[in-house]
Amino acid sequence: MRPTDLRAILRYVPQFREKTFVIAADGAIVADDNFGNILMDVAVLRSLNIRTVLVHGASAQIRALAEEKVAEPSDLEGSGVTDADTLQLALTAANRLTHEILEGLSAADLRAASTNAVIAHPFGILRGVDHLFTGRVERIDVELLQTLLSNGIVPVVPPLGMDGDGRTYRVNSDSVALEVAKALGAVKLVYITTADGLVVGGTLARQLSVDDRVHVINGRVDEGLLAEVFSNEGIGTLVYANEYRQIRRARRRDVRSIQQLIQASVESDELLPRSRAAIERQLDDYYIFELDRNPVACIALHVFPEEKKGELACLCVRPSHEHQGIGRRMVQFVEDRAREMGLEVLMALSTQAFNFFRSKAGFKEGAPDDLPPARRESYEQSGRRSKILVKALKPEAPAAPPF
Ligand SMILES: CC(C)(COP(=O)(O)OP(=O)(O)OC[C@H]1O[C@@H](n2cnc3c(N)ncnc32)[C@H](O)[C@@H]1OP(=O)(O)O)[C@@H](O)C(=O)NCCC(=O)NCCS
Repeated sequence: MRPTDLRAILRYVPQFREKTFVIAADGAIVADDNFGNILMDVAVLRSLNIRTVLVHGASAQIRALAEEKVAEPSDLEGSGVTDADTLQLALTAANRLTHEILEGLSAADLRAASTNAVIAHPFGILRGVDHLFTGRVERIDVELLQTLLSNGIVPVVPPLGMDGDGRTYRVNSDSVALEVAKALGAVKLVYITTADGLVVGGTLARQLSVDDRVHVINGRVDEGLLAEVFSNEGIGTLVYANEYRQIRRARRRDVRSIQQLIQASVESDELLPRSRAAIERQLDDYYIFELDRNPVACIALHVFPEEKKGELACLCVRPSHEHQGIGRRMVQFVEDRAREMGLEVLMALSTQAFNFFRSKAGFKEGAPDDLPPARRESYEQSGRRSKILVKALKPEAPAAPPF
């Protein structure tokens, strides 16, 4: 692990202490060689006082068991029809798997307990089809899970639910994980899977509505869990790709974050200092790149409508998040905005990042004459002697044919 990775991890630790994570592992992952590492990651989370619930699926094991017994399961995921024989397969496969997980957690020195925290009712008859022993989650026994968690015990939740009369139903583990996360107010719900998406309510879901706490990671990659949870960028597919990692307009409450973001660059004379009042005055010009609700970069676009020019300013990426393409994306974003506004030229003034603008963002070196008169005046007054970079936004006229 690189020191920067470790620093990134440690920075997030206080934020997650005593918070709840729900880890949903599909059955195929439990059988994978890397599962031991995932359990070690769970042990790390526990040691950081993060309360962790482990929900698991069992479809891969049900399939394997059915092949062993030359049986034909009526459903694998817990969302189709579960007949009596398939329920028996599911019971055997899921219980065996829960046991294996408990063994693995013991090997990672973790105390854990298998639970009956999912209260389920029959899925019922849908469009004339009786789903028999398939269940839907009625509620989660929050008290049971909280009691275990507050005693440092990792609750293991199998894809089986029970009703008040002691009947068992096969439930879909992705839905269980979602319900457990909602019921416990978990800050993270991490799906560890080998598949492209999640089966929720019988369909492959790529988007889930559970605020912005969902991650999907490939459990076959070593250190995936910790990297995903703590680095923000992670290795996985974020279900909420757009909302999760977004550029948005700055709001009043971001002013402090903007000042914090740029502070080091101001001190090293890369950026101009900006007072709170100055940022607030032009707040509509500022944009924030946010990861997991943390502002990690900012940028501004100041418009000079008469000259149809825009100035890209105050670009700053948090040092822990540099070299991941965020700077380029911010520049691209502002360029697109400027185009949409009908601007013809984008300018940037830089003392130390001029090569970034030249080689990574297609700017060319300009001269003070390129600045609108008002901007030229403040440029000269500042005495910073920043380099002036310009980019024409209109597509250049095609070159004349060579004759
Ligand atoms: C310049 C800055 C915005 C780059 O952000 P970033 O998110 O790391 O940028 P990206 O990941 O998109 O691009 C990184 C590339 O730019 C290059 N780069 C970064 N800073 C550079 C600089 N000052 N000069 C030349 N190239 C630079 C990196 O070497 C890297 O190149 P590679 O892809 O060939 O390895 C960031 O370093 C920063 O905030 N700097 C301090 C503030 C500043 O100078 N702002 C610009 C003034 S408006």
